[in-house]
Amino acid sequence: MPAAGCRRRFLVSLVAAAWFVVVGADGAGGGGVGDGVAMQALRRELAPPDWDGEDHCAWRGVTCAGGGGGAVTAIDLPRRGLRGDFSAAAGLRALARLDLSFNALRGSVPAALGELGRLEFLDLAMNKLSGPVPASLGGAIRLRFLNLSNNALSGAIPDELRSLRDLQELQISGNNLTGAIPGWLAGLPGLRVLSAYENALSGPIPPGLGLSSKLQVLNLHSNALEGSIPSSLFDLGNLQVLILTVNRLNGTIPDNIGRCAGLSNVRIGNNRLAGAIPASLGGATSLTYFEADSNELSGGIPAQFARCANLTLLNLSYNRLAGEVPEVLGELKNLQELIVSGNGLSGEFPRSILRCRNLSKLDLSYNAFRGSLPESICNGSRMQFLMLDHNEFSGGIPPGIGGCGRLLELQLGNNNLTGEIPPEMGKVKSLQIALNLSFNHLVGPLPRELGWLDKLVALDLSNNGISGEIPGDLRGMLSLIEVNLSNNRLSGAIPVFGPFQKSAASSFSGNTKLCGDPLVVDCGPIYGSNYGIDHRKISYRVALAVVGSCVLIFSVVSLVVALFMWRERQEKEAEAKMAEAGEVVVVAPQVLASNMFIESLQQAIDFQSCVKATFKDANAVSNGAFSTTYKAVMPSGLVVCVKKLKSVDRAVIHHQTKMIRELECLAHIKHPNLVRAIGYVIYEDVALLLHHHMPNGTLLQLLHNIDNPDGGNQKPDWPRLLSIAIDVAEGLAYLHQDAIIHLDISSGNVFIDSHYNALLGEVEISKLLDTSKGTASISAVAGSFGYIPPEYAYTMQVTVPGNVYSFGVVLLEILTSKLPVDEEFGEGVDLVKWVHCAPARGETPEQIMDPRLSTVSFVWRRQMLAVLKVAMLCTERAPAKRPKMKKVVEMLQEAKNS
Ligand SMILES: *[C@@H]1O[C@H](CO)[C@@H](O)[C@H](O)[C@H]1NC(C)=O
Ligand SMILES: *[C@@H]1O[C@H](CO)[C@@H](O)[C@H](O)[C@H]1NC(C)=O
Ligand SMILES: *[C@@H]1O[C@H](CO)[C@@H](O)[C@H](O)[C@H]1NC(C)=O
Ligand SMILES: *[C@@H]1O[C@H](CO)[C@@H](O)[C@H](O)[C@H]1NC(C)=O
Ligand SMILES: *[C@@H]1O[C@H](CO)[C@@H](O)[C@H](O)[C@H]1NC(C)=O
Ligand SMILES: *[C@@H]1O[C@H](CO)[C@@H](O)[C@H](O)[C@H]1NC(C)=O
Ligand SMILES: *[C@@H]1O[C@H](CO)[C@@H](O)[C@H](O)[C@H]1NC(C)=O
Ligand SMILES: *[C@@H]1O[C@H](CO)[C@@H](O)[C@H](O)[C@H]1NC(C)=O
Ligand SMILES: *[C@@H]1O[C@H](CO)[C@@H](O)[C@H](O)[C@H]1NC(C)=O
Repeated sequence: MPAAGCRRRFLVSLVAAAWFVVVGADGAGGGGVGDGVAMQALRRELAPPDWDGEDHCAWRGVTCAGGGGGAVTAIDLPRRGLRGDFSAAAGLRALARLDLSFNALRGSVPAALGELGRLEFLDLAMNKLSGPVPASLGGAIRLRFLNLSNNALSGAIPDELRSLRDLQELQISGNNLTGAIPGWLAGLPGLRVLSAYENALSGPIPPGLGLSSKLQVLNLHSNALEGSIPSSLFDLGNLQVLILTVNRLNGTIPDNIGRCAGLSNVRIGNNRLAGAIPASLGGATSLTYFEADSNELSGGIPAQFARCANLTLLNLSYNRLAGEVPEVLGELKNLQELIVSGNGLSGEFPRSILRCRNLSKLDLSYNAFRGSLPESICNGSRMQFLMLDHNEFSGGIPPGIGGCGRLLELQLGNNNLTGEIPPEMGKVKSLQIALNLSFNHLVGPLPRELGWLDKLVALDLSNNGISGEIPGDLRGMLSLIEVNLSNNRLSGAIPVFGPFQKSAASSFSGNTKLCGDPLVVDCGPIYGSNYGIDHRKISYRVALAVVGSCVLIFSVVSLVVALFMWRERQEKEAEAKMAEAGEVVVVAPQVLASNMFIESLQQAIDFQSCVKATFKDANAVSNGAFSTTYKAVMPSGLVVCVKKLKSVDRAVIHHQTKMIRELECLAHIKHPNLVRAIGYVIYEDVALLLHHHMPNGTLLQLLHNIDNPDGGNQKPDWPRLLSIAIDVAEGLAYLHQDAIIHLDISSGNVFIDSHYNALLGEVEISKLLDTSKGTASISAVAGSFGYIPPEYAYTMQVTVPGNVYSFGVVLLEILTSKLPVDEEFGEGVDLVKWVHCAPARGETPEQIMDPRLSTVSFVWRRQMLAVLKVAMLCTERAPAKRPKMKKVVEMLQEAKNS
C-alpha cells in the first residue's frame, strides 16, 4: 500500500515537472491546454467528490480565464476534507488565487508554489502542514495575501520572503515558528495586517514597523517577544487593533498611542510594561477594549479614558496603579466591565461609576478602598458581578443591595464590614455563582430570607460574628453545593438539608454551640424536635405530602418488585430453553459470520471472546435506545467495544445476507468524527458490532459527572467542549451529505477518544434499519427522550431537520450543563422550552449558561453566547427554520474564531 502511494506521488511530481518544462519552453505562461494535465493530477491526488467530467473549468471551485478549456485562474476548495499532495497546483501558471483552507492537508508546503508568478492570494490555513515555510515562496512576487495560520509549521520566517513587496496581509498564527520577526517587514509599503500570534517567536518587534505602511492590525500575542512596543506603530495613526498579550515586552506604553483615532482594540496584558498609562490615550476615541492587566504599570488611572465614549472593557488588574478611580469615568455610557483588582487603589467606593448604566462587572478587589458602601449599590444597573473583596470597606451592608436584580456573584469577603446581614439580601434572587461575606465583622442572626436564594451555588459567611440558630428556611436554597458557615457564633441544631449534611464538618466548625450532622457533636434529645420539620408549621399540606410520598414509594417498590419477578421468570425460561438444547450457558454459541475490517487488527481479535463478553452484565458500559455496548478484553490484551444490537428489526436480522451486506458497507463510513465499526460477528439472530474502545466515555458522562468506570472523569473546559460540539456537527454534516439520517442523537451517543476528539456513535443503526420501508416503527425510532423534535409527534418520520433539533439539544446541554429533561424546569418543560422561555422570565443568557464556564473569561463568554444563538436556531419549533448541518458547522467555527 505505502509503496503504491509513493509511486503515485512520484508520478504526479513527474507529470508536474514535465509540465514546467513544457511551459518553460513555451514561455507564454498563459496556461491553457497544459492546465488539463495538472488538473488531472490534482484530481487524482485530492479526489474532490464532485470533480467529474472532461472540462476541468466546469469542476466545482475552479475558475478559468475565458471559459471552458482555458487557463485556471482560481481554485477555491475550502472545507472539503481534502488530503493528499497538492503540489501539482504549481503547474497552473495563470493561477492567481488558491484557497485550500480548512482541509486535512499534511506534509510540507510545496516549494514549487513559489513558481506561480501570478499568484496573489494563497490561503492554506487550518490544515496539518508541517516543516518550514519554504524560502522559495519568495518567488511568488505578486502575493498580496498569504495565510498559513493554524498548521504545524516550524523554523524561522525565511528572509527570502522580503521580495514579496506587494504583501498586504500576512497571517502565520498558530504554528510553531521560531526566531525573530524579520526587520524587512517594516519596509513593506502595503502591509495592513500582520498576524503571527501563538508561535514561539522571540526578539523584538521590528523598530520602524508601521512607518512605511498603513498597518491596521498587529496581533502577536502568545509568543516570547522582548523589548519595547515601538512608537512607530502609532506614528501614522492608522492602527486599529493591537494585540500583544502574553509576551515579555518591557518599557513603557508609547505616548503617541493617542494619535490613532481609529484604535479600537488594545490588549497588552501579561507583559512587563512599566511606567504610567499615557494621558494621551484619550485621543484614541474609538477605543472599545483596553486590557493591560498583569504588567508593572504605575501612576494613576488617567481621567482621559472618559473621552473614549465607546469604551466597553477596561481591565487594568494586577499592576501597581495608585490613587482613586477618576470620577469622570462615570460618563462612559457603554462601559460593561471595569476591572482594577490587585492594585494599590484607594479612596471611597467610586460612586460615579454607578452612572454607567451598562456596567455588568465591577471588580475592585485586592485594593485599599475605604469607607462605606453606597446605599444604591446597583442603582438599577445591569450589574452581574460585584467583586469588592480584600479592601477596607467598613460600615453595614446597605439594604439597597436588594435592588441588584441581576447580580450573579457578590464578593465582599475580607473587608471591615459591620452590622447585620440585611434581610433584603434574600431579594437578590438572581444570585447564582457565590454570595461571599466571609472575613468581616458581621453580627446578628442569619436572615431566613436567604432561603429565597434558590439558584445560589456557593454561600460563604465564614469568619464573622453571626449568632443564633440556622433557620430551617435555608432549605429553600435548592442549588447550594458549597457552604461555609464556620467560625461564627451560631448555635442549635444544623437543619437536615442535603447540601448541609453533604458538606465537610469544617463548613460548620468554629461555632461552639452548634450541633448535629455533619459535626461530630450530637444534639441530644433537647434538639430532637428541631430536626427536619419545624413542628409549629406542620399543616395539612405536610401531611398530604407525606401520604403522597408514601403512595409513590409504594407504587415504585411494587413496580420494581414486579419487574424483578418478571425478569427472573424470563431468565429461567431462557435457561430452560438452553438446557433443552443441551447447551451450557457459558459456552458461546456458534458464530455464523464475522469479519474484521482493519487488517492490522485481525490477529488481535478473537470473535468468541467478543460474544462471551456480552453475556456478562458487568461488562456493559452503556445502554442506548437500540443497543447495549460491552467492553471486551481479547486474549491478546486488546480492549474493544462490542455493541449488541437490540433486535428491533428482526426482518433485517433474519435476512442474513442483506444484514451482512449492510455490515460490510459500514466499513466504508470513514470520518474522524463518526464511530467507525472495525468488524462484526453474527450468531443466531444476534448481530454484534466491534468498535475501538473509547477510554473517556461519553459526552453524557463528561457533562454530568457520571462515573466512567475507566476513570477519566474530569469536567472539560469550554474550548474543549466547543471543539467537541464542532466535532459532532462535522460528523453529522458528513452523514447528511451522504443522505444518511441519524436515528438517535444524544449526548450519550457522543463518544470521547483519548485525545478528547468526539465521535458520534450509533451511525450503523441508521443503515441497518430501513425506515422508508416502514419496518421500523416510530416507537423504535423515536430516539432518546428529551432529544425528540416536536414534529415527530405528528409526522412519525425521522428527518434531517429533526437531526438538527436533536443536535441543538446537545449544544444546550453543553452550554448549560443541564440534562435535556429534568424536574427542575417544572411540569411539561424540558431544556429546550426552559431556554427558549428565558427572555419571558426576564432571565439573561448568563443565567442560563453554566457560570462555571461563562464567568471564566470574556472570550469564553462571548463564544458561549454565539453558540447559544446557534443552539436556539437548531431547536426552532418550525423544522424549516432550522439551519442545515453544514451551516451549523460554519457558525460554530465562526463562534470559535470570534
Ligand atoms: C487567511 O487570510 C486571508 C487574508 O488575510 C483571509 O482573507 C482569510 O479569510 C484567512 N483564512 C482563514 C482560514 O482565516
Ligand atoms: C515546537 O518546536 C520545538 C523546537 O523547535 C519543539 O521542541 C516543540 O515540540 C514544537 N512544538 C510543537 C507543538 O510542535
Ligand atoms: C527590556 O528587556 C531587554 C532584554 O529583554 C533589556 O535589554 C532591556 O534593558 C529592558 N529594558 C528595560 C527598560 O527594562
Ligand atoms: C462608537 O461605536 C459606534 C458603533 O459601533 C460607531 O458608529 C462610532 O463611530 C464609534 N465612535 C467612535 C468615536 O469611534
Ligand atoms: C442612579 O441612577 C440615576 C439614573 O437612573 C442617576 O441619575 C443617579 O445619579 C444615580 N445615582 C448614583 C448614586 O450614582
Ligand atoms: C448601553 O449600551 C448601548 C449600546 O451598547 C447603548 O445604546 C445604550 O444607550 C447604553 N445604555 C445606557 C443606559 O446608556
Ligand atoms: C470567599 O472569600 C474568601 C476570601 O475573601 C475566599 O477565601 C473564599 O474562597 C471565598 N469563598 C467562596 C465560596 O467564594
Ligand atoms: C479594620 O478593622 C480592624 C479591626 O477591627 C482595625 O484594626 C482596622 O483599623 C480597620 N481598618 C480600617 C481601614 O478601618
Ligand atoms: C482581566 O484581568 C484579569 C486579571 O485579573 C484576567 O484574569 C482576565 O482574564 C481579564 N479579563 C478580561 C475580560 O480581559
